[in-house]
Amino acid sequence: MFKERPVEVSQEEITIKVEEIEPFLSAPALDMAEPKPCKIELKDGSTMLIREVKDEELPMLLDYVKKFMEKGSKDFYDIVGARVYAELLGYYRKRLKDPYLFVGAIDGECVGFANGRVRDKDINISLHTMAFKRGLRVGATLYYRKLVYAFEEQGNEEVWSTFESYNGWKRWGLGMAQPSYPYPEYQHELGGARVFYVDQQYWNAAVKDYVGQMVGNEISYDVSDELLAKNEKLRLPDGVNI
Ligand SMILES: CC(C)(COP(=O)(O)OP(=O)(O)OC[C@H]1O[C@@H](n2cnc3c(N)ncnc32)[C@H](O)[C@@H]1OP(=O)(O)O)[C@@H](O)C(=O)NCCC(=O)NCCS
Repeated sequence: MFKERPVEVSQEEITIKVEEIEPFLSAPALDMAEPKPCKIELKDGSTMLIREVKDEELPMLLDYVKKFMEKGSKDFYDIVGARVYAELLGYYRKRLKDPYLFVGAIDGECVGFANGRVRDKDINISLHTMAFKRGLRVGATLYYRKLVYAFEEQGNEEVWSTFESYNGWKRWGLGMAQPSYPYPEYQHELGGARVFYVDQQYWNAAVKDYVGQMVGNEISYDVSDELLAKNEKLRLPDGVNI
C-alpha cells in the first residue's frame, strides 16, 4: 500500500533487517518448564523412555510422519499425519507458540510421540498423539504425559483437547470421562471441533490414576544414565505398521 507522505523526510527509504522483523513473526517464549525425562514399563515388559524431542531429530520425524499422509485413511492416520507434519514444521521453523513435543522410545526405537503448546499460563492445548507401534498403549501413555507436564510441571489450569479419531476419543475422551465446553461457543484450534478438557481439580480427583489403570504401571522419573544412553540416538520403525 502507498500513501502520500504528509511531511518532508530525511530518509526516502528505510531499510529493515529481517532480524528486526522476526520478533513480530515468532512468538516470544513464555516461561516454559523443562520437561523431565521419565519412563514406564509397558504391558509386554518393555521400558519406554519418554523425553523431549531434540531439534536435530525433527527432520527424520518429518520424513516419517509424511509416510502416514500417504498411507491412507485407516484409523484417521492420514489427517493426523498431515496435521502433525505441519506442527513439526511449525516447531522446527519457530512458527508455533510455546510448543512441547515428547517422544516415546523403546531400546532406541521411536514408538510414538505427543505434542501440544502452552497457550497461556492457564490453558494448555493438546495437539496430537500418535502411536507408531500399536497394541502397547503407547499412545495412551504419551497423552497422559502431556497432562502430567501441564498440571504437575507447568502449573496450567486446564488442558484442552479435541479428537479426530475414534481411537483418540475412546482413549482419552471416554477413557478419562472428559467433559466438553458448550459448542459452538467454544471451539478447538484443530478444525473447530468441540473442546474436551481436564482441569486441575479433575486431574487431582481422578485423572491422575489413568495410566496406572490403563497400563498397570506408573510413570517414574527414576531414569538411569543407561536408559538415557540407550535412547540417545533415535531410529524410526521400518515402515508404517498400523
Ligand atoms: C489414538 C492412538 C494414539 C492410541 O494409541 P494406543 O493407546 O497406543 O492404542 P493403539 O492405537 O495401539 O490401540 C488401540 C486399540 O486397538 C487395538 N489395535 C488396533 N490396531 C492394532 C494393531 N495393529 N495391533 C495391535 N493392536 C491394535 C489395540 O489392542 C487397542 O486395544 P485396547 O484398547 O484394548 O488396548 C493411536 O491409535 C493412533 O496413533 N491413532 C492415529 C492417530 C490418532 O488418531 N491420534 C489421536 C487423534 S485424536
